[in-house]
Amino acid sequence: MFTWQPMCSFAEGAEHQRLRGAVTGAMAGLDHRGIRRHINRYSNRLLNDICEIGRADLVGQFAEHLPMMVMLHVLGMPEEYSERMVQAARDMIKGTETAIASNAYVMEALTRHVVRRRAQPEEDFTSALIAQPAQLTDDEVAAHLRLVLIAAYEATANLIANVLRMVLTDPRFRAQLSGGQMTVPEAVEQSLWDEPPFSAMVGYFAKQDTQLGGQQIKAGDGLLLGIQPGNVDPIVRPDLSANMQGNRSHLAFSGGPHECPGQDIGRAIADTGVDALLMRLPDVELAVDERELRWRSSILSRHLVELPVQFGKRPPQDVTARPMSHVPTPRKNWEVSSPMPQPFPQPAAPAAQPAAPAAPAPQDPAAAPVRRKGAWRRFLEWWRGY
Ligand code: HEM
Repeated sequence: MFTWQPMCSFAEGAEHQRLRGAVTGAMAGLDHRGIRRHINRYSNRLLNDICEIGRADLVGQFAEHLPMMVMLHVLGMPEEYSERMVQAARDMIKGTETAIASNAYVMEALTRHVVRRRAQPEEDFTSALIAQPAQLTDDEVAAHLRLVLIAAYEATANLIANVLRMVLTDPRFRAQLSGGQMTVPEAVEQSLWDEPPFSAMVGYFAKQDTQLGGQQIKAGDGLLLGIQPGNVDPIVRPDLSANMQGNRSHLAFSGGPHECPGQDIGRAIADTGVDALLMRLPDVELAVDERELRWRSSILSRHLVELPVQFGKRPPQDVTARPMSHVPTPRKNWEVSSPMPQPFPQPAAPAAQPAAPAAPAPQDPAAAPVRRKGAWRRFLEWWRGY
């Protein structure tokens, strides 16, 4: 973790500006509304895999996969990598005995991708990074792809899991969401205050003797940036129960020259993913006692191991529909407290039969009643990007 690598998080001054400038330059060309559409599509695909079963682990089957699917798409890599990349990233973060082999797998896949894009650029983050005026070497491009992929995977998976856990275990939180007093992006922001996805950052060393917060620091001392403690500093947050709505001054994305440049993407994945899940599974509830939930902790983060839930079984949705042809269902069926599984329109096969084919049931657009969309609905579609 402390080993130097050719990437912006390990550089300072002019070299940091060169490397970070390449990353932010490549990010500037991303089509954010297009990415939101893909986040929504991937969310619904993951939900299709679980919706007929009525039970799921929202960490292993949703929160960990969504950021990886989105980031592979952003990097321009085939989706087939997703499953193996999630396993490798999980391994690397856990620091198991196979972590080195997993890291080698990730680096080999990314290096092959960089070589391909250098020879034949396409419209993706990787090609844009290669084309930046900073003229990164292949090693530098691959190291930044890994930084982006792993940072996005671990942090965004933690964020989604934390928000969902809060919705499932805190009736007041859920009531505020379902009652419209809190939006999903506000819930995400509250979670960034209370449970920042990275609880600390490592890898800082003092260049000279100095004083920080009344403490004597000596040149060469290793420093930890305590994100979680910073977020509950009584000077900035005297009342921990006070609502932080609209306040983004937390440290979850750090601050200063290294402040996370991917925060908009991280927020978009969490907002859109949580929104899609709650819209599709409004009766979702925890399937175990809250006290049975377990976390895996490292110096960097606290990662929920599993989030077992149950909900009324329902049929899959068509995720092959062209963007803009899907009108999101209004949330009139939000549940506030422990709900009974709702009767739901049954799939053609009886519920007791083995799971229906995973392929989404194609909708016949001609059969759907034609309704004129109101101005609000059209605005929502434009805003959400689908
Ligand atoms: C909820 C999601 C995310 C959180 C909480 C998060 C948080 C952070 C934090 C705390 C840092 C360290 C800053 C420091 O060293 O002081 C960081 C750095 C970074 N993050 Fe994120 N991140 C998230 C998502 C993303 C995504 C989606 C991307 C890419 C698309 C990304 C790219 C990066 C990069 C490139 C750096 C290094 C910046 C530098 O050293 O100049 N992050 N992030």
